[in-house]
Amino acid sequence: MAVPAPAIEAADLSYDFGGGRGVFDLSFSVDRGEVLGWLGPNGAGKTTTMRLLTGLMRPRRGRVRLLGHDAWSGRERAHRILGYLPGEIGLPAESSGGAVLDLLAAMRGLRDRAYERSLVDRFELDLRAAPHCLSKGNRQKLGLVAALQHDPPVLLLDEPTSGFDPLMQERFVAWLLEEKRRGKAILLSSHQFSEVERTADRIAVLRQGRMVALAETGFLAQRDRRGYHLRFGGEADAQRFAAAYPAARVRGCTAEVEVQGPLRPLVDALAGLELLSLRERQQSLEDAFLRIYAAAGGEGA
Ligand SMILES: Nc1ncnc2c1ncn2[C@@H]1O[C@H](COP(=O)(O)OP(=O)(O)OP(=O)(O)O)[C@@H](O)[C@H]1O
Ligand SMILES: [Mg+2]
Repeated sequence: MAVPAPAIEAADLSYDFGGGRGVFDLSFSVDRGEVLGWLGPNGAGKTTTMRLLTGLMRPRRGRVRLLGHDAWSGRERAHRILGYLPGEIGLPAESSGGAVLDLLAAMRGLRDRAYERSLVDRFELDLRAAPHCLSKGNRQKLGLVAALQHDPPVLLLDEPTSGFDPLMQERFVAWLLEEKRRGKAILLSSHQFSEVERTADRIAVLRQGRMVALAETGFLAQRDRRGYHLRFGGEADAQRFAAAYPAARVRGCTAEVEVQGPLRPLVDALAGLELLSLRERQQSLEDAFLRIYAAAGGEGA
């Protein structure tokens, strides 16, 4: 049996705006049932990549395939299989949210509106309000339902929860995990690390239009690398610990250590010392993200 093509497949994707801006040589794929986190600082190229994937912009070099079909030459098909939620949402000037959804459904030839209804209920969208009168978060909800009403198999979500309150963010995460289980392929750009960490199978980090990391989420966050804060009964014990465990950073009665792998060497180094407290600090994705930026040449895009 033939192996199904990845839902999204980009090869050497490039678009140069000039002046070093744009995206360069991006190669990646997203499978069905997978969320790829698409991270990077402002101006890194996240939105540009998504626009190239939709066929809204023609790549200067490289190509994109969606469910095995070329995204540029098959733009008509792409619109049916893609749900693209842009970072800046433009909505038709209709009198109500309901009218916006009716118009888009008519344009898409969509008759079965059950999926759309489930989204409206889940995100508590008020369909009576005029789009231009909506608050930021409610406008974002309308944009989400408008982009995804046709239950497409491939989702491109550009900062989908910007403006959502914490309750809606939680609902969004639960919904995204369900969509993943239903087999959707999802590219998720976000500045909310916890949202990405909880949903993404893999994470790509862009910087100045180039991919500087692509790895499984757990690997990137290096979950087996833990930091500990230790407090000793006195400075003498802290110094004895430093002698037994040279990687420790000791200040007064306290020490900080990072451990990757087994804990035995740390436990052995503590034998016979008066340890008053031991606090663990797990490295978050945010730590990893900032570390990757720093390694790639400093802060900012
Ligand atoms: N139409 C355009 N003309 C010229 N340069 C552009 C254009 N659109 C984007 N750029 C530049 O391309 C780079 C990538 O922009 P992009 O919008 O993709 O970043 P982003 O990662 O989405 O950032 P943010 O987190 O702020 O949304 C930036 O340097 C931006 O200034
Ligand atoms: Mg953007």
